[in-house]
Amino acid sequence: MVVNALQDTLFEPVQIRVVNKTRGFVEDKFVDQFIAISIEALKQNSVPRFDIYLRVQDTFVLYCERGLEITHQHLSRLLENKIMDAYVLSTDIEAFRQYCEEHALEPSPEGDPLFFVDDGKYVPVTHTSLKAGTEVNFDIYCREKNRYNLVLPSGGDPGAITGADKILYIKSPDSEAYEDYLQKVLNAFQDKLTVEEKTALVYDNCKLVMRELLQNPRLTVKAAAATKLVDTIVEEISLDRAAMRGIIQIASHDYYTYTHSVNVCSFAIALARQMGINDLPSLKELGVGAMFHDLGKSQVDARLLRKKGNLTPEEFKAMKTHVMLGEELVEALPNIPPNAIYAISQHHERINGKGYPYGYSAERIHTFGRIVAICDCFDALTTTRSYQEARTPYAALQLMLGLEGCFDEKMLRELIKALGSL
Ligand SMILES: [Fe+2]
Ligand SMILES: [Fe+2]
Repeated sequence: MVVNALQDTLFEPVQIRVVNKTRGFVEDKFVDQFIAISIEALKQNSVPRFDIYLRVQDTFVLYCERGLEITHQHLSRLLENKIMDAYVLSTDIEAFRQYCEEHALEPSPEGDPLFFVDDGKYVPVTHTSLKAGTEVNFDIYCREKNRYNLVLPSGGDPGAITGADKILYIKSPDSEAYEDYLQKVLNAFQDKLTVEEKTALVYDNCKLVMRELLQNPRLTVKAAAATKLVDTIVEEISLDRAAMRGIIQIASHDYYTYTHSVNVCSFAIALARQMGINDLPSLKELGVGAMFHDLGKSQVDARLLRKKGNLTPEEFKAMKTHVMLGEELVEALPNIPPNAIYAISQHHERINGKGYPYGYSAERIHTFGRIVAICDCFDALTTTRSYQEARTPYAALQLMLGLEGCFDEKMLRELIKALGSL
């Protein structure tokens, strides 16, 4: 596996093996040369002018070669194995679009029906923060691959939702109703909440606040709310091993800049504690910096943030501006503790001096910059993207250890210990 460590960790090209049984060869391609399509786009007895691949762990296997008919057997085998996604090469995307047009695949009002695109219309919610015996005034959904299905209508009791491991969603316009709900549950149950419930409520509250702040980074009220939540994580959650384990377990595996911000903040506090940083003011400074580390992304073209695969050099240049833009935004906010800024300005610096925007090397990178660089990359690697399955924490840490000269190795080993001890 080859990773270009100089690229933003969010867009690193990952080389992957492609097995082409029909043509009898194996070749290496970059994972972002593939685009996921829904199998619903494939019509029986049609003859596509593009190859169709399936993903089997880290390998793409040619399933139906261009010019051959898609048979009933092809489709039923996919359904039997509950496979919902297939892949086409990005160079074939035009042929795929034409195929869709020819087969009159209905464009959906939700956008392009053929790709799963996170269009921000749904917000993930943590099951544990929905308390049984209460009433919700918003609809709750779960996602089955490319589709959102209603699991509890507004007015229902969340106790009726089965399958605690399900990732649940609400519609974006219901975010405020959900924020009110979280507040009501916190007030009504206070000391009666379990550690897991309290943790989930704080995590989801952070997510919503950060989501709003990323939409409008000048909302000082929301910045203050986020800072207060960081205080809660430091003062209450990070002191309690079970609570810290809880917040890391519920860390969303879907990638949104707002969930990423909360995850990086949680990992950073856990790592700092493991390193023996225990004074609350320092932990709060670090926590605030980690929470706001990508605030500058609010100023970057959203199409770049959502782009599948590698950025062009110009796009990458534009993406890199998020660091300095974030510094400016955070400096303009009131009551930001002074050292928090290092977590923002240095989270893309690398020990070998090959990071950005300043190109600082080891001795010039502040402890907070090093901590957040590690947690930022770790979260990016362990969450799911449109073109990348989430890696396990073990695989992510192995990969990071292999990137010599990028991260503070001692700290990286402390993160391994921190995650292992939780
Ligand atoms: Fe970043
Ligand atoms: Fe980040």
